[in-house]
Amino acid sequence: MLDPKSQYKTLEDLSLEGKNVLVRVDFNVPLEDGKVANDNRIRSALPTINFLADAGAKVILMSHLGRPGGEVQEDLRLDPVGERLNELVDPEVKKLDDCIGPEVKEELSKLEGGDIALLENTRFYPGEKENDEEFYEKLADLADLFVSDAFGMVHRKHSSNYGVATELPSAAGKLILEEVDGLTPAVKSPEHPFVAIIGGKKASSKIGALWDMVERVDKFLIGGALAFTFLHAQGHIVGDSLIEESMVDEVRDFLEKVKNDRGTEVLLPDDAKVSKEFSEEGEVKTVDATKIPPDWMGIDIGPATIEKYSKEIEDANTLVWAGPLGGFELQPFQAGTREVAESVANGSGYRIIGGGETGAAITQFGLAEEMDHVSTGGGACLGFLRGKELPALEILKVNS
Ligand code: 3PG
Repeated sequence: MLDPKSQYKTLEDLSLEGKNVLVRVDFNVPLEDGKVANDNRIRSALPTINFLADAGAKVILMSHLGRPGGEVQEDLRLDPVGERLNELVDPEVKKLDDCIGPEVKEELSKLEGGDIALLENTRFYPGEKENDEEFYEKLADLADLFVSDAFGMVHRKHSSNYGVATELPSAAGKLILEEVDGLTPAVKSPEHPFVAIIGGKKASSKIGALWDMVERVDKFLIGGALAFTFLHAQGHIVGDSLIEESMVDEVRDFLEKVKNDRGTEVLLPDDAKVSKEFSEEGEVKTVDATKIPPDWMGIDIGPATIEKYSKEIEDANTLVWAGPLGGFELQPFQAGTREVAESVANGSGYRIIGGGETGAAITQFGLAEEMDHVSTGGGACLGFLRGKELPALEILKVNS
């Protein structure tokens, strides 16, 4: 197979010394009490940032944070990110209070080769999400070159990760190439058996991926709250569990089609850990997942399901996991996600963990190093695994 990375323009293709290089990173990180709570995405961008600074470029970082809706929201300023970044890189990071305009240009004109600046949240402007020409021209006006390293954003076509690439000579950063390399084995000729663990809250956010991956996947192992929509669609009794009524017909359709067309198996939980409240305080019991009593809700898969899923995981030659299997943030409901994570860590196939909550869980359990690839992207990772063309990746290809 052709090296998937060879499709992209790379940092090595750019002449960097003394140039203003605008770098789109995904510093959309969780904050707690005004501090970065998980710096994984910041650390993942360091190879690109350091490469550019070492090559004598003036590194101008830009990112969104949260969803401020096109206006300034004080608690979504990038200052905490700048503070954390400062602890991780050598040159002092110059944090600016805006991302476009004459004052920003003036500040950037003081940079020297190897310096690093961080612009303010690009989503403070409505033109960011609209991929608005006037806005991305102003961003592009700050620099000579553009580098995209925001893998978590490649499913979006925004000004700072797409529009600017149409204005400036561009290249993919090192994180993007690492992600493409790590995820491609599950898209192009995966080794079988191919097992996909699909969890999370909503069937509506995963059903598209299920349809798209069904041709490649041999077994889907379903968990998380969305499993109860699947069980409900099959006519089972799920008590007070979270279900998406609007998804029931499509889920039923999917289960029917999959069984008849290709023989892909969709495994659902046999047992569930249930409680009357979503908290650590309430009574917890394990029940048959198809007969959950009224007033009780399923919050995790039970031990029999963990065992059943672990057997499938052991046999998988390719494995993809997107979405936690229960409310792992609550101690009594951690076992499903943790024990399945341990089985995946012990597996011998090629194992990919989606970003977002699943990646956070794997990191929390100290198992990230055991996996073949842990993505920094949530929606972006799922989009890639679906085999979709992602706009902000396409624009970085050699022939774009
Ligand atoms: C993410 O966290 O998945 C990315 O940063 C994209 O964020 P968004 O879903 O708000 O566009």
